[in-house]
Amino acid sequence: MIKNVSVIGAGTMGNGIAHVFAQAGFTVNIIDVTPTQLQRALDTITKNLDRQLAKGSITEEQKKATLANISLVKDLPEGVKNADLIVEAATENVTLKLEIFKQLDLLAPAGCILATNTSSISITRIASITKRPGNVIGMHFMNPVPVMKLVEIINGYATKKEVTETIVELSKQLGKIPCTVNDYPGFIANRILMPMINEAIYSLYEGVAGVEEIDTVMKLGMAHPMGPLQLADFIGLDVCLSILRVLHDGFGNPKYAPCPLLVNMVMADKFGVKSGEGFYTYTAGSKELVVSSSFKN
Ligand SMILES: NC(=O)c1ccc[n+]([C@@H]2O[C@H](COP(=O)([O-])OP(=O)(O)OC[C@H]3O[C@@H](n4cnc5c(N)ncnc54)[C@H](O)[C@@H]3O)[C@@H](O)[C@H]2O)c1
Repeated sequence: MIKNVSVIGAGTMGNGIAHVFAQAGFTVNIIDVTPTQLQRALDTITKNLDRQLAKGSITEEQKKATLANISLVKDLPEGVKNADLIVEAATENVTLKLEIFKQLDLLAPAGCILATNTSSISITRIASITKRPGNVIGMHFMNPVPVMKLVEIINGYATKKEVTETIVELSKQLGKIPCTVNDYPGFIANRILMPMINEAIYSLYEGVAGVEEIDTVMKLGMAHPMGPLQLADFIGLDVCLSILRVLHDGFGNPKYAPCPLLVNMVMADKFGVKSGEGFYTYTAGSKELVVSSSFKN
């Protein structure tokens, strides 16, 4: 029985994960090393609940109940001591995640399930730092968490069957659709998405077509809601590059080698939406999609 959930990391994904658990009636502790991130997460959750309220998808009571289920905690031991499930959504850095899981193994109650929201780090590797690899699993939510239906559930080499079953049922309780996959580089989502994004960047780099043409072909021709270059900007070009490197290193296959244009853009701090420029330029308050001056003829 899962009742108490602790979410480690109060960033983009952490606040969304806390939101959906709290809304589904779970008691949620959000833990972050940066105190300002905790308050920011609560502000974001409140703003997103207000949006749901305005749309009529929740009531004022549900908003209040959701907020009442959330506590902000600075101290890791305090934040996880009663946890039935911990979902780690801290920064995507292997050394950091291994350190966090080492701590969680010492601090969390014996039966607690340790899940990670990592986009690309091996679940088996994370599990191996703990003395309970059978209780470690990937629970890969998509951004924005309250909106996106999928949870990609990743079985590590040693994940116990009952742990997977619990997480599948839990994802359904959150109103999500779980899909269970095995632990190989990129899992399924990024193994298929990132080569497509990389190929779109190669097409631009080789002059096959411009930014708008590439995105329009994929939007209108394949019924994708967003073109691959716009999607790459949204995910973050630095994130795309690091996932491609995981695929390239993990499989040793040159087909995953990141396009030199992507590498250059990341070196030039052009990360997409979060830095204000990638394949498009982003201005605060404007929803207009403007191709970056670097790619205009
Ligand atoms: N952003 C996405 O679209 C997306 C999608 C799916 C999965 N993910 C994965 O989710 C995880 C989080 O990504 P994000 O985009 O929310 O990152 P983010 O940078 O927005 O947030 C990370 C948070 O982790 C906190 N943190 C760092 N070290 C910590 C520690 N030791 N203890 C507690 N908190 C700590 C940071 O202060 C920050 O608030 C990553 O593993 C990422 O790969 C991201």
